[in-house]
Amino acid sequence: MGFAQILSRAESGLVAPLVRVEVHLGSGLPTFNIVGLPAPVVRESKERVRAALAHCGFEFPAGRITINLAPADLPKEGGRFDLPIALGILVASGQADPGCDLATTEFYGELGLTGDLKPVPGLLLAALHAQRQGHGLVVPACNLPELRLVDGCEVRTIRQLAELADRGRLAVQVRENEAGSPGENSAKAPAPDLADVRGQWQAKRALVIAAAGGHGLLMCGPPGSGKSMLAQRLPGLLPPLSHDEALEVAAIASLARERSCAGTGLVARPFRAPHHTASAHAIVGGGESVRPGEVSLAHHGVLFLDELPEFDRRVLEALREPMESGEVSVVRANQRARFPARFQLVAAMNPCPCGRAGQVRPPCKCGPRRVEGYRSRISGPLLDRIDLQLALPAVDAEALMGQAATQRRAESPGTAEALQQVRKAREIQQQRQGCCNARLGPQETLSRCHADTGGMQLLRRAAEQIGYSARSQHRILRVARSIADLEGSNDIHADHVAEALAMRWEQ
Ligand SMILES: Nc1ncnc2c1ncn2[C@@H]1O[C@H](COP(=O)(O)OP(=O)(O)OP(=O)(O)O)[C@@H](O)[C@H]1O
Ligand SMILES: [Mg+2]
Repeated sequence: MGFAQILSRAESGLVAPLVRVEVHLGSGLPTFNIVGLPAPVVRESKERVRAALAHCGFEFPAGRITINLAPADLPKEGGRFDLPIALGILVASGQADPGCDLATTEFYGELGLTGDLKPVPGLLLAALHAQRQGHGLVVPACNLPELRLVDGCEVRTIRQLAELADRGRLAVQVRENEAGSPGENSAKAPAPDLADVRGQWQAKRALVIAAAGGHGLLMCGPPGSGKSMLAQRLPGLLPPLSHDEALEVAAIASLARERSCAGTGLVARPFRAPHHTASAHAIVGGGESVRPGEVSLAHHGVLFLDELPEFDRRVLEALREPMESGEVSVVRANQRARFPARFQLVAAMNPCPCGRAGQVRPPCKCGPRRVEGYRSRISGPLLDRIDLQLALPAVDAEALMGQAATQRRAESPGTAEALQQVRKAREIQQQRQGCCNARLGPQETLSRCHADTGGMQLLRRAAEQIGYSARSQHRILRVARSIADLEGSNDIHADHVAEALAMRWEQ
């Protein structure tokens, strides 16, 4: 007879609820049961625990062993409960003493049959919750680098189940604390420079405006005009992640089983570029278990959708929810989770299926109906949510290699200079309204983005001539606001509105 309770955590969206692993050893015929909504992989834990205990020379208790994973109605997944279950059996049968307070220490680890501990995916999220609750952690040694971001939390590591036999073997790990914010470090990684892009002055300017105001950007241009090149340069124009943002990004990556930041503790601003054949699950989230998708992996960063019309229509429609609310809900059989998804969208497309529409030599071979069909794959409501829409010309040889190109290259800002402008513009927005211009709602747009008489006249005239909807006019005002902020101007003047108008092509 015996009882033990070991703490651990499950996963539910971006929350890691506490799980009490209760172990009861009773008399009777030998049985070994796990209850409390274990997924098949947790049920298989019995076999791993039994073999590991035997291999490490522990005695497997005779009689009835009942493991309850409480709360019973919370689904439990993964191999992470192997270590708490094995430890619970050892403590209940008086065979182990881990040398730490079981009421304030959480245990994680998947066991191999010889008692070796294997890494637990998604541990960062659990560790962040443990730290907030003032709990210590015992984790597989190979998980330690991932936990560098979590400070102020006592972490012990374990390599082998046999280590539980001696009190004091699990010493607290001294972890090197990274200086400054984990996001700050990302600035040190070499990023591609804006100055590498030849020609395309307007597109480069649009990229800086998009960075300054957090606006979505759609680029339409012939193949090889530099659309992908430009998109890759947007993360470099955004200020480094704050500490909290970096933790959120790392927790989502850890939850999605991405190993990008594991081992280094550095978190760069995300740049996600899913292929157009990606499924809705991959983009929005979901699948076999509730996992974040590309939209959440791009949280606080850039989501680049190349060849936008080629994406599945359902995928494109599903983007509207996160673009509006900055969150996405993922539903699976009996689970539902909400993940953050505040990304900046950069999309690229060719003007027609062959990519040569509007070009004289070589001419476009697609008929008007094919072009129309291609463009109409992107719905109006989605386009409505992209503030900047730009038609890119092809770059000619002169712009690419000529003397003029070299001269103008020196004039146009590189990434470092543009980043300074973006930082200043973002500070102005933060002080004025607490968020970037792209996130202003219709009412706030009217109150915060007031143009002077010249600016309003120009906008009114353009609206009459081109037939801009109220929504389009708001978008133009928001972009004009960002242009004025880049200049440090309080008022929105006619030239700001004019530049914003030039960065819209209405379909
Ligand atoms: N404006 C430019 N300045 C310098 N190099 C360029 C420019 N445009 C294209 N290139 C060169 O051409 C290559 C292809 O460019 P990129 O992939 O950005 O074009 P794209 O517009 O995305 O084409 P596609 O429509 O085929 O995807 C780049 O790697 C770069 O070497
Ligand atoms: Mg491309």
